[in-house]
Order: sequence, then C-alpha cells, then structure tokens
Amino acid sequence: MAKKYDVAVVGATGAVGEVMLSMLAERRFPAGEVYALASSRSAGTKVRCGDRELTVSDLATFDFRKAQIGLFSAGGEISAQYAPKAAAAGCVVIDNTAHFRYDDDIPLVVPEVNPGDIGRYTTRGIIANPNCSTIQMLVALKPLHDAAGIERINVCTYQSVSGTGKEAIDELMEQTRVLLERGQAAAHVYPKQIAFNVLPHIDVFQDNGYTKEEMKMVWETVKIMGDPSIRVNPTTARVPVVYGHSEAVHIETRRKLTAAEALELLARAPGVVVVDERKPGGYPTAVTEGAGHDPVYVGRVREDISHPRGLDMWVVADNLRKGAALNSIQIAEQLIARYL
Ligand code: A2P
Repeated sequence: MAKKYDVAVVGATGAVGEVMLSMLAERRFPAGEVYALASSRSAGTKVRCGDRELTVSDLATFDFRKAQIGLFSAGGEISAQYAPKAAAAGCVVIDNTAHFRYDDDIPLVVPEVNPGDIGRYTTRGIIANPNCSTIQMLVALKPLHDAAGIERINVCTYQSVSGTGKEAIDELMEQTRVLLERGQAAAHVYPKQIAFNVLPHIDVFQDNGYTKEEMKMVWETVKIMGDPSIRVNPTTARVPVVYGHSEAVHIETRRKLTAAEALELLARAPGVVVVDERKPGGYPTAVTEGAGHDPVYVGRVREDISHPRGLDMWVVADNLRKGAALNSIQIAEQLIARYL
C-alpha cells in the first residue's frame, strides 16, 4: 500500500485553511490522519476535508509528534510561536505566512519556478510559501526570464478581499448590502469603505513609502528567481472582488521578446493557461477564470509602445488556491515524492 502522511492544518477554520482541507481531498493527497487545528474558540466545531468530517482541535494543546506535515495559515504570530515547535517534533512545516520568508536558511518555493530549493528544508524543518501576488506573477514570468532575462518589473495588483481573511469577505458583503439599501457603510477590517471602492494599501506602510505587501513582491521575486539583479516596482491595491487576484505586469527584458514569442513560451509553461484574444472578453478575469480554478491565466500580452524591450500582460489567479493552498500542497507533494 502507498505510504500515507498525517497532516496538521493550522488555521483550519480560516479562508485559506478551508481551501487547504478541500484541496487535500481534491488532489488525493496521500493523507492518513488529517488534524484540523485552530484557536480554542473553534475547538469542537466541525470542518470538511472531502468526504471526511473533522472535529477542530485547539492548536495550543496539539502534539505535533502526531503529524509529519504541517500546513500553517493562521497568521505570522501563530507561525512564529508554533512552527519551530512543530519542526522540532519532526513535523515539516509549510508556512503560508510572511514570518520566515526572508530568512536565508528557509527555502521560499514556487514549484514551477524553484522546486530544487525544497531540499533545503532540512536546516530548520520549515518551508515558506510565498505571498499570493508574488506566486502568480512568477509562474507567468519564469519562462520569460529564462528566455530573455528580466531586468525590471513594474506591477500593479488588483487583489481580492479573501486574501485578508473571512472577516474581510463579510465586510465587503455587509457594506455592499447596506449601501444598496442606501444606508451608511461601516469600515472595521479596512481603513476605508471597500465596497464599490479601490484601496491603494495592503499591509503596513514602510519607511520608503511602499507598503509591506509591495516590498514582499520585491524581496520574494529576487529570492525565488535566485537573481538579485531583477528590479521590481509594485503598487498593490485592494478591490471589491471576493476571490481572485489580477495583476497588470510590465517587464523590461535584456533581449527583446516579441509578443508572439512570449505567447509561445507562456503556452508551454507549467501552471499557465493563456487566454489572449484581441476581442471583447478575450482575456482572463478574477471571477470568470481565476476563482475556483488552479492555473495562472495570462492575457493582454503586447509589446510596450513606450520601451524598446518592454512587454505588458494581465495575470489572474485564485489567491486562495495557487496563491496559497494549492502552492502549499504542491510543495508537500514534491516533499513526499523526493524527500520524506
Ligand atoms: P479561529 O477560527 O479559531 O479564530 P482567516 O485568515 O480567515 O481570518 O482565518 C484565520 C485562521 O487562523 C482561523 O482558522 C483562526 O482560527 C486561526 N487562528 C487565529 N488565531 C489563532 C490562535 N490564537 N490559535 C490558533 N489558531 C488561530
């Protein structure tokens, strides 16, 4: 019989945790026991993992010796506190928070881009899952970088509220309902109204005027591509979309890449689906392609009229799937296939 692995899902009641549980079943991950862990507030409640109904346990009292793999998505502070304990107990952690991403001895992995880095998990027993916006951008850009050498990336993101978590989804729904009934929308999760609005602010402001979400795209691109010469200039925005992030990506390459060449490379790239017809609707969107699907969709590929070696494209993916749960589970699949 094929070997099975006991898996702990930390943050099992959250927006990402729920998708992790359903994707373990959907992808037929060879899971033995699946432990659904969250705060004491949700201990005893039920969550689903495919056909299985699981009872949520309190993370604080869980014995990580019972699991070989831990999928963490309960926030940076929880990972800071529990991931090292889990690793010390022999449970390899795949961490979806930003807490360990920039540590030199922690691999940061997008399986389509740098799968070879997974093997470096042995130092600390932790593998970091990158930021959702970085993942989808790099799945699309890796084949173009290999072919023509990316010197610079200018990117604007249009990120859905599910990236913030369940409370943010509720806030968008509630504000929309209240506003349609001509009431006053109250903002709690976001600093300003998100319904029918766009907020140019994700995560905390940094001294250089960028936000942390923007700097994550800078730091993570360099680390995952293994190329410190790539310059990245992001603006990240939150939009009133529930599932799926969109990105307007502009690149400048060392060698000129035509739109036709780029489309050919993208059509063969792992994890990418090209939707690029120059007519109304001939492009991917968060709601129609991204949400609920696994691939990274690329469209609107065209040569930049303002730069001799510039290329523009539109990149869409489900932020909870490829941007979080799917990428983590793909890492776990490679981990068991090659190392455990
Ligand atoms: P809980 O539902 O018990 O609060 P989201 O990103 O959708 O907001 O979800 C956050 C996830 O992190 C939830 O599963 C949440 O569990 C979990 N979480 C938050 N705080 C803790 C904590 N102190 N200990 C364990 N899990 C936590």
